Amino acid sequence: MADQPETYICRCEEVTREEIEAAIKNGATTMNELKRWTRTGMGLCQGKMCSKNVSRILSEATGQKPEEVLPSTFRQPVRPVRIEVISGHD
Ligand code: FES
Repeated sequence: MADQPETYICRCEEVTREEIEAAIKNGATTMNELKRWTRTGMGLCQGKMCSKNVSRILSEATGQKPEEVLPSTFRQPVRPVRIEVISGHD
């Protein structure tokens, strides 16, 4: 079943399919641009729940092959890391 325009694609940031498509119509061609313009992928799950669907919408709208759509950048650390691991000290 196709997503409706008001379907939340990114639930963490409450970004709808309509908002993603509007960003693409306004020139967004990468996952990073969609992230910056709509905040999709910037919520609590950091895109784990929405990035595949956002990528699919971008692929369909721009005609890019799905494997050509690069993932957005992540802020480091992606997972919590104990400071002892980074510093090398106990
Ligand atoms: S669903 Fe998009 S950041 Fe969590």
